[in-house]
Amino acid sequence: MATSSSCVVISDEEQGYDLDLFCIPKHYAADLERVYIPHGLILDRTERLAREIMKEMGGHHIVALCVLKGGYKFFADLLDYIKALNRNSDRSIPMTVDFIRLKSYCNDQSTGEIKVIGGDDLSTLTGKNVLIVEDIIDTGKTMKTLLQLLKQYNPKMVKVFNAPVFMKETHPFSLFLCVSVVGFEVPDKFVVGYALDYNEYFRDLNHICVISETGKEKYKA
Ligand code: IMP
Repeated sequence: MATSSSCVVISDEEQGYDLDLFCIPKHYAADLERVYIPHGLILDRTERLAREIMKEMGGHHIVALCVLKGGYKFFADLLDYIKALNRNSDRSIPMTVDFIRLKSYCNDQSTGEIKVIGGDDLSTLTGKNVLIVEDIIDTGKTMKTLLQLLKQYNPKMVKVFNAPVFMKETHPFSLFLCVSVVGFEVPDKFVVGYALDYNEYFRDLNHICVISETGKEKYKA
Protein backbone atom coordinates (compact mmCIF):
# COMPACT_ATOMS: atom_id res chain seq x y z
CA MET A 1 0.00 0.00 0.00
CA ALA A 2 1.24 3.51 -0.81
CA THR A 3 2.17 5.95 1.92
CA SER A 4 -0.88 8.11 1.97
CA SER A 5 -1.15 9.55 5.44
CA SER A 6 -2.63 12.67 3.81
CA CYS A 7 -5.83 10.91 2.85
CA VAL A 8 -8.41 8.60 4.37
CA VAL A 9 -7.17 5.07 3.75
CA ILE A 10 -9.76 2.30 3.50
CA SER A 11 -7.84 -0.90 4.24
CA ASP A 12 -8.08 -4.21 2.41
CA GLU A 13 -9.74 -5.69 5.49
CA GLU A 14 -12.51 -3.11 5.52
CA GLN A 15 -15.81 -4.99 5.29
CA GLY A 16 -18.01 -1.95 4.80
CA TYR A 17 -21.58 -1.87 6.10
CA ASP A 18 -24.66 -3.96 5.62
CA LEU A 19 -26.95 -2.42 2.99
CA ASP A 20 -29.88 -2.54 5.42
CA LEU A 21 -28.20 0.00 7.68
CA PHE A 22 -28.58 2.73 5.03
CA CYS A 23 -31.15 3.97 2.51
CA ILE A 24 -30.49 2.25 -0.81
CA PRO A 25 -32.71 2.68 -3.88
CA LYS A 26 -34.86 -0.43 -4.18
CA HIS A 27 -33.89 -0.93 -7.82
CA TYR A 28 -30.29 -1.61 -6.75
CA ALA A 29 -30.96 -3.71 -3.64
CA ALA A 30 -29.80 -7.00 -5.22
CA ASP A 31 -27.02 -5.42 -7.24
CA LEU A 32 -24.77 -4.32 -4.41
CA GLU A 33 -22.80 -6.19 -1.79
CA ARG A 34 -21.95 -3.64 0.87
CA VAL A 35 -21.88 0.07 1.54
CA TYR A 36 -18.22 0.90 1.45
CA ILE A 37 -18.08 4.66 2.09
CA PRO A 38 -21.27 6.30 3.38
CA HIS A 39 -22.30 9.57 1.74
CA GLY A 40 -21.86 11.57 4.94
CA LEU A 41 -18.22 10.59 5.23
CA ILE A 42 -17.61 11.59 1.60
CA LEU A 43 -19.11 15.03 2.27
CA ASP A 44 -17.15 15.56 5.47
CA ARG A 45 -13.91 14.70 3.71
CA THR A 46 -14.82 16.93 0.74
CA GLU A 47 -15.32 19.86 3.10
CA ARG A 48 -11.76 19.46 4.32
CA LEU A 49 -10.42 19.07 0.75
CA ALA A 50 -12.00 22.42 -0.10
CA ARG A 51 -9.98 23.99 2.69
CA GLU A 52 -6.73 22.39 1.44
CA ILE A 53 -7.41 23.65 -2.08
CA MET A 54 -8.04 27.19 -0.88
CA LYS A 55 -4.81 27.09 1.11
CA GLU A 56 -2.77 25.94 -1.90
CA MET A 57 -4.47 27.87 -4.67
CA GLY A 58 -5.95 30.82 -2.85
CA GLY A 59 -4.84 34.13 -4.31
CA HIS A 60 -5.12 32.93 -7.90
CA HIS A 61 -8.16 32.75 -10.14
CA ILE A 62 -9.02 29.04 -10.35
CA VAL A 63 -10.52 27.26 -13.32
CA ALA A 64 -12.15 24.15 -11.89
CA LEU A 65 -12.19 21.48 -14.61
CA CYS A 66 -14.75 18.75 -14.03
CA VAL A 67 -13.97 15.41 -15.63
CA LEU A 68 -17.32 13.98 -16.65
CA LYS A 69 -19.22 11.99 -15.95
CA GLY A 70 -17.80 10.45 -12.81
CA GLY A 71 -16.53 13.71 -11.34
CA TYR A 72 -19.84 15.60 -11.36
CA LYS A 73 -21.02 14.84 -7.82
CA PHE A 74 -17.70 15.54 -6.22
CA PHE A 75 -17.32 18.66 -8.37
CA ALA A 76 -20.69 20.05 -7.29
CA ASP A 77 -20.12 19.30 -3.59
CA LEU A 78 -16.53 20.54 -3.62
CA LEU A 79 -17.54 23.81 -5.26
CA ASP A 80 -20.30 24.31 -2.71
CA TYR A 81 -17.75 24.04 0.08
CA ILE A 82 -15.30 26.36 -1.70
CA LYS A 83 -18.11 28.88 -2.22
CA ALA A 84 -18.95 28.70 1.49
CA LEU A 85 -15.31 29.39 2.36
CA ASN A 86 -15.27 32.31 -0.10
CA ARG A 87 -18.37 33.75 1.51
CA ASN A 88 -17.15 33.42 5.05
CA SER A 89 -13.51 34.42 5.04
CA ASP A 90 -11.59 37.64 4.51
CA ARG A 91 -9.68 36.06 1.65
CA SER A 92 -11.63 34.79 -1.35
CA ILE A 93 -10.76 33.66 -4.88
CA PRO A 94 -12.77 33.92 -8.08
CA MET A 95 -13.51 30.62 -9.73
CA THR A 96 -14.82 29.66 -13.14
CA VAL A 97 -15.80 26.20 -14.34
CA ASP A 98 -15.10 24.05 -17.36
CA PHE A 99 -16.00 20.50 -18.33
CA ILE A 100 -14.39 17.67 -20.24
CA ARG A 101 -15.77 14.21 -20.90
CA LEU A 102 -13.52 11.16 -21.02
CA LYS A 103 -14.36 7.49 -21.39
CA SER A 104 -12.12 4.46 -20.93
CA TYR A 105 -14.11 1.72 -19.18
CA CYS A 106 -16.42 -1.04 -20.39
CA ASN A 107 -17.99 -3.17 -17.63
CA ASP A 108 -15.42 -3.13 -14.80
CA GLN A 109 -12.38 -3.17 -17.11
CA SER A 110 -10.31 -0.42 -18.66
CA THR A 111 -10.39 -0.62 -22.47
CA GLY A 112 -6.89 0.85 -22.45
CA GLU A 113 -8.06 3.57 -24.83
CA ILE A 114 -9.04 6.93 -23.39
CA LYS A 115 -11.51 8.82 -25.54
CA VAL A 116 -12.35 12.50 -25.20
CA ILE A 117 -16.02 12.42 -26.15
CA GLY A 118 -17.15 15.93 -25.40
CA GLY A 119 -16.65 19.01 -23.36
CA ASP A 120 -15.81 22.66 -23.54
CA ASP A 121 -13.27 24.36 -25.75
CA LEU A 122 -10.16 23.89 -23.66
CA SER A 123 -8.42 26.96 -25.08
CA THR A 124 -10.13 28.81 -22.22
CA LEU A 125 -7.53 27.18 -19.95
CA THR A 126 -4.59 28.97 -21.54
CA GLY A 127 -2.72 31.02 -18.96
CA LYS A 128 -5.00 29.89 -16.11
CA ASN A 129 -4.53 27.95 -12.90
CA VAL A 130 -6.38 24.71 -13.39
CA LEU A 131 -7.83 22.51 -10.71
CA ILE A 132 -8.69 19.11 -12.13
CA VAL A 133 -11.63 17.43 -10.46
CA GLU A 134 -11.57 13.74 -11.34
CA ASP A 135 -13.43 10.88 -9.71
CA ILE A 136 -11.06 7.95 -9.32
CA ILE A 137 -7.56 6.98 -10.32
CA ASP A 138 -6.82 3.32 -10.98
CA THR A 139 -3.96 2.67 -13.42
CA GLY A 140 -3.42 6.42 -13.83
CA LYS A 141 -3.75 6.24 -17.64
CA THR A 142 -6.74 8.57 -17.78
CA MET A 143 -5.02 11.19 -15.68
CA LYS A 144 -1.82 10.92 -17.70
CA THR A 145 -3.75 11.38 -20.95
CA LEU A 146 -5.63 14.34 -19.56
CA LEU A 147 -2.44 16.03 -18.38
CA GLN A 148 -0.86 15.55 -21.80
CA LEU A 149 -3.96 17.01 -23.43
CA LEU A 150 -4.02 20.04 -21.14
CA LYS A 151 -0.36 20.75 -21.80
CA GLN A 152 -1.24 21.63 -25.40
CA TYR A 153 -3.33 24.54 -24.13
CA ASN A 154 -0.54 26.07 -22.07
CA PRO A 155 -2.27 26.64 -18.78
CA LYS A 156 -0.26 28.83 -16.45
CA MET A 157 -0.38 26.16 -13.78
CA VAL A 158 -2.05 22.78 -13.76
CA LYS A 159 -1.75 22.29 -10.09
CA VAL A 160 -2.15 18.60 -10.39
CA PHE A 161 -4.16 19.61 -7.60
CA ASN A 162 -6.15 17.04 -9.09
CA ALA A 163 -8.59 16.18 -6.45
CA PRO A 164 -9.85 12.72 -7.15
CA VAL A 165 -12.24 11.57 -4.54
CA PHE A 166 -10.86 8.08 -4.64
CA MET A 167 -7.51 6.67 -5.49
CA LYS A 168 -7.00 2.94 -5.73
CA GLU A 169 -3.96 1.54 -4.01
CA THR A 170 -2.82 0.15 -7.38
CA HIS A 171 -2.03 3.59 -8.77
CA PRO A 172 1.60 4.14 -9.82
CA PHE A 173 3.53 5.74 -7.00
CA SER A 174 4.97 8.38 -9.35
CA LEU A 175 1.46 9.57 -10.06
CA PHE A 176 0.60 9.68 -6.40
CA LEU A 177 3.51 12.07 -5.87
CA CYS A 178 2.10 14.64 -8.27
CA VAL A 179 -1.44 14.51 -6.95
CA SER A 180 -1.75 16.95 -4.10
CA VAL A 181 -5.18 16.23 -2.78
CA VAL A 182 -6.71 12.80 -2.47
CA GLY A 183 -9.94 12.11 -0.68
CA PHE A 184 -9.75 8.40 -0.06
CA GLU A 185 -7.51 5.53 -0.92
CA VAL A 186 -9.51 2.39 -1.57
CA PRO A 187 -8.48 -1.23 -2.20
CA ASP A 188 -8.48 -2.56 -5.73
CA LYS A 189 -12.21 -3.33 -5.97
CA PHE A 190 -14.70 -1.99 -8.47
CA VAL A 191 -16.81 0.55 -6.63
CA VAL A 192 -19.93 2.43 -7.71
CA GLY A 193 -22.12 5.28 -6.49
CA TYR A 194 -21.61 8.99 -5.88
CA ALA A 195 -21.48 9.37 -9.71
CA LEU A 196 -19.13 6.42 -10.22
CA ASP A 197 -20.79 4.03 -12.66
CA TYR A 198 -20.85 0.55 -14.03
CA ASN A 199 -21.92 0.97 -17.68
CA GLU A 200 -23.78 4.19 -16.70
CA TYR A 201 -25.73 2.59 -13.81
CA PHE A 202 -25.34 3.44 -10.09
CA ARG A 203 -24.57 7.13 -10.59
CA ASP A 204 -27.92 7.67 -8.86
CA LEU A 205 -26.67 6.16 -5.60
CA ASN A 206 -25.39 8.34 -2.76
CA HIS A 207 -22.96 5.99 -1.07
CA ILE A 208 -19.88 4.36 -2.51
CA CYS A 209 -20.71 0.65 -2.68
CA VAL A 210 -19.21 -2.58 -3.89
CA ILE A 211 -21.18 -4.06 -6.78
CA SER A 212 -22.40 -7.67 -6.51
CA GLU A 213 -21.95 -10.39 -9.12
CA THR A 214 -25.71 -10.13 -9.78
CA GLY A 215 -25.28 -6.42 -10.48
CA LYS A 216 -22.34 -7.00 -12.82
CA GLU A 217 -24.31 -9.57 -14.78
CA LYS A 218 -27.50 -7.50 -14.89
CA TYR A 219 -25.86 -4.35 -16.25
CA LYS A 220 -23.19 -6.00 -18.39
CA ALA A 221 -22.55 -4.22 -21.73
P1 IMP B 1 -7.51 4.70 -14.93
O1 IMP B 1 -7.27 5.32 -16.27
O2 IMP B 1 -7.18 3.22 -14.93
O3 IMP B 1 -6.79 5.42 -13.81
O4 IMP B 1 -9.07 4.73 -14.64
C1 IMP B 1 -9.71 5.92 -14.27
C2 IMP B 1 -11.12 5.97 -14.83
O5 IMP B 1 -11.69 4.67 -14.89
C3 IMP B 1 -12.00 6.76 -13.88
O6 IMP B 1 -12.10 8.10 -14.30
C4 IMP B 1 -13.33 6.02 -13.96
O7 IMP B 1 -14.11 6.52 -15.01
C5 IMP B 1 -12.95 4.59 -14.29
N1 IMP B 1 -12.84 3.74 -13.07
C6 IMP B 1 -11.72 3.19 -12.55
N2 IMP B 1 -12.00 2.44 -11.45
C7 IMP B 1 -13.33 2.55 -11.27
C8 IMP B 1 -14.24 2.01 -10.26
O8 IMP B 1 -13.87 1.29 -9.31
N3 IMP B 1 -15.54 2.35 -10.41
C9 IMP B 1 -16.01 3.13 -11.43
N4 IMP B 1 -15.20 3.65 -12.37
C10 IMP B 1 -13.87 3.36 -12.30
